Parts: sequence; C-alpha cells; structure tokens
Amino acid sequence: MSASLVTLLYLVASICFIQALKGLSHPTTSIRGNVFGMVGMTIAVLTTAALIVKLAGGGVAGLGYVLVGLVVGGGAGAVMAQRVEMTKMPELVAFMHSMIGLAAVFIAVAVVAEPQAFAIAPAGEPIPVGNRIELFLGAAIGAITFSGSVIAFGKLSGKYKFRLFQGAPVRFAGQHWLNLVLGLATIGLGIAFAATQRFEFFIVLIALAFVLGVLLIIPIGGADMPVVVSMLNSYSGWAAAGIGFSLNNSMLIIAGSLVGSSGAILSYIMCKAMNRSFFNVILGGFGGEGTTAAAGGQAQRSVKSGSADDAAFILGNAETVIIVPGYGLAVARAQHAVKELAAKLTEKGVTVKYAIHPVAGRMPGHMNVLLAEAEVPYDQVFEMEDINAEFGQADVAIILGANDVVNPAAHVKGSPIYGMPILEAYKAKTVIVNKRSMASGYAGLDNELFYMDKTMMVFGDAKKVVEDMVKSVD
Ligand code: TAP
Repeated sequence: MSASLVTLLYLVASICFIQALKGLSHPTTSIRGNVFGMVGMTIAVLTTAALIVKLAGGGVAGLGYVLVGLVVGGGAGAVMAQRVEMTKMPELVAFMHSMIGLAAVFIAVAVVAEPQAFAIAPAGEPIPVGNRIELFLGAAIGAITFSGSVIAFGKLSGKYKFRLFQGAPVRFAGQHWLNLVLGLATIGLGIAFAATQRFEFFIVLIALAFVLGVLLIIPIGGADMPVVVSMLNSYSGWAAAGIGFSLNNSMLIIAGSLVGSSGAILSYIMCKAMNRSFFNVILGGFGGEGTTAAAGGQAQRSVKSGSADDAAFILGNAETVIIVPGYGLAVARAQHAVKELAAKLTEKGVTVKYAIHPVAGRMPGHMNVLLAEAEVPYDQVFEMEDINAEFGQADVAIILGANDVVNPAAHVKGSPIYGMPILEAYKAKTVIVNKRSMASGYAGLDNELFYMDKTMMVFGDAKKVVEDMVKSVD
C-alpha cells in the first residue's frame, strides 16, 4: 500500500469521524452519525492493519497478529456493549478509556525500547528529542487516564468492597501537596528523559503517573464521576494524539484530537448545565456523600399525596401535559410505560410533550436515549430552552423520578445549586411528582416544589406507578 493511498484513506476516515460527531449532536441524526463512525473506524483499522503488515515486512504472520488482536478486542467490546444496561453506560465508557490509556502506555514503552521497529530512529541512533517529548507526554497522560479510569469505573459500579472503589471521597491531609509533588516529579523525569533518553527515567515517570491518576480521582464523590469520565475521555484522546505524533501516524493524531477536544467541550457543557465550575467538581462540591439521604429536618413537613388513579384522572382531564423525566425514570426503566401513557392521553385529545434537562439522569443525553429506546416520537421531545416558556400555560407538569432539575432552589441565592438552569415545572397549573420517598436527589437538597399547594405526590416505583396510571386512564 503506497504512502499516498494510506494518507487518502486516513483522510476519508477523518471526514467520517467529523460527520459522526455532527450526526451524534441530535437524536434524529444519531443513527447516521453512528454509521459514519463505524465506517470511519473500519477504514482506519483496516488501513492501519495493512500498514503494520507492511512495516513488519509483509507476510501472513504479521497479518495473523493483527487479526487476533481485532477478534479478541472487538469480540470482548461487542459482548460488553451488548450486555450493558443504559444506567451502567458511564461505567463501560470509563472501562474503555482505561484501555485507551493503557494502550498508549504500552505503545510508548515499545517505541522507547525498540525505536527502529517503529521507524522512528535507525538502529543504534537516538530517538529525536521532539519524539521523546511526545512519548513522555503520551505515556504520562495515558498512565493517568488508565489508573484514574479504573478508579472511576470502581466508583461508578458501586459493587466492590475495596475502599478506593466506593462512592464516598477518600481525602487525607496534604493530598493536594502530594499531588503537586508527584506532578512536578513526573514532569522533571519527563524532561530528564527527553534530555538523556534513559529508559529508567521513562519507566519511573510512568509509575508516578499511574499513582497520580489514582490520587487525582479518589477525592471525588461517586456521583460526580460522569463529569470526571468525560474529562478522562478528553485525556485519553490527548494521550492517543501524543502517541500519534511519535509514530508519525496522522490518523491517530486526528482521531485523538477529536476525542480530546470533544471530551473537553462535553465536560464544559456538563459543568455549565450544573452551574458548577470544573474545579468545584474536581475538588468535590456536592454529591459526594449521602446523596439519597432524606432532607434532614425538612422531612417532617407535610405534602399532598395521591394515588396513581388520582393522577390518571387529572391527566385525562387536562388539555396540555408536560412530562419531565429524570434519573428515577431510568432506574425504574419506566420509559415504555411512559410512552404508553402518553399514547393513551394523546388518543384522548390531550397534547403531550416531554421536557428534557441537559443533565437529567447521570450522563449526557441520558433522557434522550431512554425515550428513543421506547420510540417516543422526536417531535414530542423538547430541550429545556425550547419548552420552559410553555410550563406557564400547561395544565399539568408530571415529574417522573426527577428532582434537582426541577428544584426552584436554583433561583435562591446561597443554595448550592443557585444559578443552575432548571425546567420551570413549578409554573404549571397542576404539578404531579412521582418518586419513592421524600429523599433528596443528586445534590442532596430539599425541593420546595413538593410542598406547593398545587403539587400532588404519587409515591412508588416509577414503572409500577406509570403502569397503574395507564390502566386508569380511560
Ligand atoms: P436526581 O436529582 O438525582 O433525582 C432523582 C430522583 O429520582 C430522586 O429524588 C429519587 O427519589 C427518584 N427515584 C430514584 N429511583 C426511583 C424509582 N425507581 N422510581 C421513582 N423515582 C425514583 O435526578 P435528576 O432530576 O434527573 O437530576 C440529575 C442530577 O444529576 C442533577 O443534579 C445533575 O447535575 C446531576 N448529574 C448529572 C449528570 C449528567 S451528564 N446527566 C452528570 C453528573 C451529575 P426517591 O429516592 O425518593 O425515589
């Protein structure tokens, strides 16, 4: 395969990746986006495989190694993706990032050990200084990404007894100073490696970066992990781009940069929608501990509660209903029941719309994906900025397993969520809230909306409650 054909194929793959990102920005084009991504990745993998075989001097043996890698890695990925539940998606993503980080470290070590095998320097010649710097950066970022993602994976899964894998932050005196010292030592060793190309420096800097990855993530609460995963996503992209420079592989540079920048933009969007600074998340703001604890002294206040039948009666007599899905809806897997409820109401002549908050649930686009899974028509689904003005005219806002994203405390100065944009469900003529108890949401705050005169609480698991409503709407 000639160099110009490789460049051309890499260019086509890069265009596919850009189209994939564009397509994934809206539910209606997301399938197209995924197809572009798959086509781009197939072109990139096959071209790289052909290149590796050529570098290895051609022959069946080289191709065999590549195929074994593709079958084992691709097979494991396919099985995991098939089995994963929607609410466990951030965990899977954390796991994938850890693999990217580790791959970057392995490649960097192999390049430093045998630069001639990667055509970086002729046998016996030193690696150029520029490549050494890129290898140092790629390996260090890759190592931080690997160990940080492993901790994020453990915290997200919440099923391991190991202390570092538990949601509660792990903090100790002098933690930030230790991180600073380790960070500076890693950079110092990187500079020393760039100057001398000594393998020991390279290995020790990687070991320090592994430790740093763990220390950076353990003080962050489990509930903040989605933002951290998106940040690690960005790191994994930069690690890949760094290695791409060392290997002179333009595909890796472009794909790595796309992942790096899109991950950084996503982290920014998430922080903005939660009205939190990135540093607030990294240093542990809210959401670390006791996120589901009942809201302290406020728990004694009385609320109006009703049954699923009562709610169905109110919904059936409304002209316009806005459904607000939240994390609890995903936990209960009630999306199909909700779609059925909406269909029944629509049949009765009720106008039904869904209101989506950008950070409802626990991952970006969580609610969109959930509703798409139930095949809710896209034209019924509205983003926050498009629907907020309609709550004032809506007869009923029905909130299913959502809490923070409708909490009017966001308008109260001094509240931990002050300034966070919310769905203004409190403006609807009647508000129905379904959740299992008076426990708080992710931010650990009480919610005034539950105590309003026009609010009716319907307690119970979202799936059971909505199914009962479906039966009652005649
Ligand atoms: P939350 O504020 O977490 O509230 C979810 C509510 O669902 C809880 O109050 C819970 O109350 C209820 N619930 C849980 N299981 C349920 C079930 N089986 N049936 C019915 N209700 C159930 O969720 P939200 O309103 O979607 O807000 C999301 C929060 O996560 C925001 O604070 C956001 O900043 C944060 N966050 C989001 C992201 C992204 S990217 N989406 C990332 C990080 C953090 P009960 O226990 O009483 O049932």
